[in-house]
Amino acid sequence: MSYLKSQLKLLSASVSVSLFMVISSGSVWCGPCQETDSNSWISSAQSVLKHVDFKVSDFDVPTKAYYYKTPLIELPTLESIVKAKVGRDIKIFIKDEAQQKNDSFKIRGVLYEIYVAITDVINRAKNHDPKALEILEKGLKIVTQSTGNHGINLISGVADTIDLLLKTESDPYFRELIKKIEPVVFTSKSIADVKKSGMVAAMERYRSSLGLSSGSGILDDRYSSYEEAVNKRKQYIKESEGRALYMEHAGTDIMKGHGSIALEVNDQLKEKGISEDQKLAFLMPVGAGGPLGALTAMKLVRPNSEAIMVQTLTFGAFVRILKEIDQIGYEEYLKHIGTDLEIKNSQTPEPTIEYQYADKKNLKIYFPDGIGVDTPEKNAIGVAMDHLDAAVMVDDREAYHKSSILVQKDLLDHYQDASKARVGGTSAIAAEAVLTFADKLPQMKNADVIVITGTEGNILPEIVEYQKSRLKDVDSIKSGYMP
Ligand SMILES: Cc1ncc(COP(=O)(O)O)c(C=O)c1O
Repeated sequence: MSYLKSQLKLLSASVSVSLFMVISSGSVWCGPCQETDSNSWISSAQSVLKHVDFKVSDFDVPTKAYYYKTPLIELPTLESIVKAKVGRDIKIFIKDEAQQKNDSFKIRGVLYEIYVAITDVINRAKNHDPKALEILEKGLKIVTQSTGNHGINLISGVADTIDLLLKTESDPYFRELIKKIEPVVFTSKSIADVKKSGMVAAMERYRSSLGLSSGSGILDDRYSSYEEAVNKRKQYIKESEGRALYMEHAGTDIMKGHGSIALEVNDQLKEKGISEDQKLAFLMPVGAGGPLGALTAMKLVRPNSEAIMVQTLTFGAFVRILKEIDQIGYEEYLKHIGTDLEIKNSQTPEPTIEYQYADKKNLKIYFPDGIGVDTPEKNAIGVAMDHLDAAVMVDDREAYHKSSILVQKDLLDHYQDASKARVGGTSAIAAEAVLTFADKLPQMKNADVIVITGTEGNILPEIVEYQKSRLKDVDSIKSGYMP
């Protein structure tokens, strides 16, 4: 560890020298910027996708007792930079989902998605559907592929749903069938250790809560890329003959669960005296598309809001697809899905940073690994076209070396317990989007309040160590962002 520290010191020294030579290099997609295109792709999306009309009540999900209401914290350092850029007063907050159960916002949507899927099978079985009963008798599998948080929360969500259902199920036969439900997760070899250990720990909790042996539940991490894990999951579902249900990342139900963030933020803003007539810009990092539920919910619950999706230049497939749809139209874009023309992130992306150690193998850090999927899910593209106001891509290295440090400083000032101040990569890219685009993007430029979602806190110890080592540089990082 002492070697690591000395390496990090060296690195931070070289970083602070080079930081101010880096010109911020974000790119932007903005629906309303191209009025004609935006009108045409919205209507074609509605006719093709037939996705649900969300209602505010959809986001008030029955599973919320299984997770926490997280704090909404003001970020004075970001505020002072943005005030100077836009030349007027502005409030900036972080919805700190690093404090959420399992260290990320994901439990909100994943748990609700699992709950809906399982209750549907049980209700069908109770209504004498022989196939549903057979599935439960043989053991229902709840399945996904993941880069980390989706898998952690799938395993945790199966355990929570079983717990919730057993609270009300009195039929001894159905109680036994519910206990047979198992989580199955496919993932790649190269995911961050902290995510892998999160999945292992969630699996142990699932097994011990039901008194099960190590044979129950599957965590298969043998794949060399996310895409390979996707293919393995597809094969597993196909071979299971209906006994395995895929828990997608960006379907309607997961979006409803994630939307609970917006209801909380709306209440918390009111508690802070920020009225609904004040303009809000609400930002979330997006990979496959689940967080669009929170962005959509915010627009419904607080109509005076702008919904902004954040990606990175490395993991920017969703923003690139929206740009492509502007060019060729949605119907035409749909024909690309599943072909060589489909826009995907690289299977071998550049890491945010690579640390080289003398005594162990190199450590590649993909700071915003939470959005590191290959491409968005199709359903999410339609939802984005219907509800998003803007989408931006930022440089993950800027987020790592600069904005994550500024947010961490504000969180350290806020929390008495320093270990609570945790800024993961996807949280940091939302902050980076504010620092890069606050004076450029109309959706932020005209806002009275900006809320970013700090989506995760389960980060590698090496990252935490680096962030701590850079706290001394806060003033110089800050001045680098000043106009
Ligand atoms: C911390 C974090 N942020 C953002 C996302 C993006 O969610 P999605 O892939 O559904 O867009 C994820 C996904 O797991 C995540 O774990």
